[in-house]
Amino acid sequence: MNSRMPDSSSGLRHTTVVVTGIGACLPRRVVDNDTVIARGALRTDDTWIRDRTGIARRRHAEPGTSTGDLAVGAGRAALASAGDLRPDMLLLATTTPDHPCPATAPAVAHRLGLGTIPSFDLAAVCSGFLYALATAAAFIRSGACTTALVIGADAYTTIVAPTDRATAPIFGDGAGAVLLRPGIPDEPGALSTTDLGADGSGSDLITVPHGGSRHPQHLPPSAPEDRHFQMQGRAVYAHAVRRMTQSAGSALRQAGWAPDTVRAFVGHQANQRILDSVADRLGIASAHRFGNIRDLGNTAAASIPLVLADPAVHQAVAPGARSLLTAFGGGLTWASVALHWPSAVPHTEAPPTDLDTTPLCTPDLSRSHPWTASTTAS
Ligand code: UT7
Repeated sequence: MNSRMPDSSSGLRHTTVVVTGIGACLPRRVVDNDTVIARGALRTDDTWIRDRTGIARRRHAEPGTSTGDLAVGAGRAALASAGDLRPDMLLLATTTPDHPCPATAPAVAHRLGLGTIPSFDLAAVCSGFLYALATAAAFIRSGACTTALVIGADAYTTIVAPTDRATAPIFGDGAGAVLLRPGIPDEPGALSTTDLGADGSGSDLITVPHGGSRHPQHLPPSAPEDRHFQMQGRAVYAHAVRRMTQSAGSALRQAGWAPDTVRAFVGHQANQRILDSVADRLGIASAHRFGNIRDLGNTAAASIPLVLADPAVHQAVAPGARSLLTAFGGGLTWASVALHWPSAVPHTEAPPTDLDTTPLCTPDLSRSHPWTASTTAS
């Protein structure tokens, strides 16, 4: 047991929840803008994509590699980062589960060797990781569990149409994870406040129209593109800026933290212009903004934990520094968390041994920024 962990006898309530392990798993295949454009015969160019989104490249999972595979890699990495601590609950935030039924989380827990711990998926699209973080923290605070593995994993290349210029250049695949335990207020990794919200009146703005119970898979879709992920980008953009600004501001006010005391701002990596807009409105200086959108694109539920797991970010932020996470996604949903920056050293795991696919992860942590160092696939 970690020496800073309070007594965790069954049923005890814990008031503070701490991030004590951080992990990542990324597909090896780096795909640059020109490759995405050529593959989908898209009417766009590298300059448009960089200028309007901030994205230069992203990772694509190999065919046959699932969200669950990526989640296992990230989960294993977070467990390695946390030392010998084992979770007694697993939450997987995803909108691209391995199957419509059952949830992916139980299989991930099984593959991680976690026995019969309660495990479930949580669907809040790009806000999913922060929703899952807040949910797991509430379980720990209630005494219902002591340690929880929270994974954000998505393989959007499995739902995005390569021929859709409004989405294909934006999304990438990946997974990130954290391990939570009870702890002491203000210690590195301690969660301070959370803010969650949703507005279903905008549920048509981000959607996969076909294949659910409303428009079942066995019926023909109204239009072929209805089988794929669709996003009304301009409307979503405005909502994203407004909701993340409000939600992040609320988390800060609850914590009693002035914006100019925040030393790490990590927003959902949707669009660099959205991130700059939110940070500008909150009054957070450029030096304290961290992200990975240039190299990874929008990895949906994985985007925030992948920033937390970035070795370069880890080196740049002092353990314990006031930090602000904020996300926005389909639903519409939004979520923010104020926390003290974790001291846990992030791990990026080698591929799980029970996979028969090509290696998923980049285990080399010796370079200052290993995620930018892989070769570009054709
Ligand atoms: O992760 C969940 C949350 N997601 C987000 O928050 C994403 C929010 N939206 C966005 O990031 C941006 O809206 C996009 C990157 C998707 C689009 O950028 P934009 O600057 O907002 O463009 P727009 O949607 O206002 O569209 C401007 C024009 C349109 O043409 P018309 O209607 O003015 O003739 C689009 O069809 O740009 C067109 N367009 C493109 N042109 C070249 C859209 N995508 C492209 C493209 N290349 N890839």
